[in-house]
Amino acid sequence: MYTSDELLEQVNNYLDTLAYGRSPESLYQPIQYVLGLGGKRIRPVLMLLSYNLYHENPDNILSSACALETYHNYTLLHDDLMDEAPIRRGQPTVHTKWNANQAILSGDSMLVLAYERLVHCDSKHLEAVLQLFTETALQIGEGQQYDMEFEKRDDVAVDEYIEMIRLKTSVLLACAMKMGAILADASADDADNLYKFGELIGLAFQLQDDYLDVYGDSKVFGKKIGGDIVSNKKTYMLITAFNQANDKQRAELESWIGKTDFDAEEKITAVTKLYNEMGIGQLAKKKMDYYYEQSKKYLAAISLPEERKSELKAYAAMMMKRQK
Ligand code: IPE
Ligand code: IPE
Ligand code: MG
Ligand code: MG
Ligand code: MG
Repeated sequence: MYTSDELLEQVNNYLDTLAYGRSPESLYQPIQYVLGLGGKRIRPVLMLLSYNLYHENPDNILSSACALETYHNYTLLHDDLMDEAPIRRGQPTVHTKWNANQAILSGDSMLVLAYERLVHCDSKHLEAVLQLFTETALQIGEGQQYDMEFEKRDDVAVDEYIEMIRLKTSVLLACAMKMGAILADASADDADNLYKFGELIGLAFQLQDDYLDVYGDSKVFGKKIGGDIVSNKKTYMLITAFNQANDKQRAELESWIGKTDFDAEEKITAVTKLYNEMGIGQLAKKKMDYYYEQSKKYLAAISLPEERKSELKAYAAMMMKRQK
């Protein structure tokens, strides 16, 4: 079995070998740029870890694993445009370094490249893999649309938020786990348990992303802190703050949410101060821990000896401690 660090190295080496010998070069530059900025490579590593539970040669599925990373990076190009995010992985986002059209078009090509990389999998599993991936990609679009619509709503419930992040984030982690299992000929039960594990760890992962968007260190996190506050993202933290607030705090929150003309830094400071007063950061961590704990049940249900699952278990634990 491989360690997650060894699998990460395999992913990075594989991505480095991919050639973009097509024209115009300007279409492919942003693709190479974003994929060259690193990132944690969580999705391909999870897929390889999942496959490696059953098979010793994860390098067999590197193309499909890197397809998921390519797809993920495509969503980031469009997400950064939608979220007006200036920085990702510590560097200017594609739409700021180039422009919006370039982020759209290079992103679109990445989606196509993702399919191209995916179909190099074992032909026996091609239909199942394509079905899983296509369903996942549709769900992510749905999640992103809810995310945008929720910005404009002030009555988003916690359950709606959880469903939104399940769609925009969790299903891709779940897909990575299940795809690894399918390609490894795991039993249908194991594949489903791995999917559920990915789904729950994905909820914890997005809750943590939202936490770090407020409380992270931008140098480590690689993104601008406070973007979610500026755009009124209905995160668990904002919804919980509304639910916990006293009259004065609610009035203050409402006033910041309702402003169309404001100083971004001032808004971030004010809303963060309200979060601090109400202990919202701790509540978010608690919610995250809840889903992480839930995820362990599905890992436990997988029909393999415990020691076989230890690398995946350790990787999940590491994911939950991330600062970036
Ligand atoms: C960012 O994903 C988008 C979310 C779903 C939170 P990652 O945190 O995995 O970003 P990279 O790929 O490591 O940069
Ligand atoms: C990301 O949500 C979900 C997808 C990219 C599909 P965020 O908008 O929170 O991700 P970051 O924080 O920009 O990475
Ligand atoms: Mg977003
Ligand atoms: Mg974003
Ligand atoms: Mg975020």
